[in-house]
Amino acid sequence: MKIAIAADHGGFSLKADLVDMLQQAGHAVDDLGAHEYLANDDYPDYALLVGKAVQSGRAERGIVLCGSGIGACIAANKLKGIRAGVCHDTYSAHQGVEHDDMNVLCLGARIIGVEPAKEIVTAFVNARLNTGERYQRRLNKVLAIEREA
Ligand code: RB5
Repeated sequence: MKIAIAADHGGFSLKADLVDMLQQAGHAVDDLGAHEYLANDDYPDYALLVGKAVQSGRAERGIVLCGSGIGACIAANKLKGIRAGVCHDTYSAHQGVEHDDMNVLCLGARIIGVEPAKEIVTAFVNARLNTGERYQRRLNKVLAIEREA
């Protein structure tokens, strides 16, 4: 799977571990930065890069890391077509895809350790949207809000 990933200073160290893990699992990972530790960088810049990659189809899924995951999630959800969620457990990480077509995973590197983060990312990338009518109906309602609100 093509996966775009990025992190601010809060998630910089965790990003390296996740890139390694995803590449070893056979994914094509586009690391959109930061490419060096920048103590004063800003999470919206990285959420925008990942969101654009997913929006354009250059990536099928995105991952954005910051200190809590919250800022990255708020910023990523400002882009049309992006459905980002903060997941610090594996159930949310796969169910968010299966039920809600979540296409960007946000993680807080100050909240979870490396090994739980790897399991959460694995659950996210391996999950697929359920084809049931109820899920499509709900997704259509979300898309209508995005168009009209
Ligand atoms: C950066 O210090 C921190 O505020 C940011 O990474 C993130 O946690 C925001 O949600």
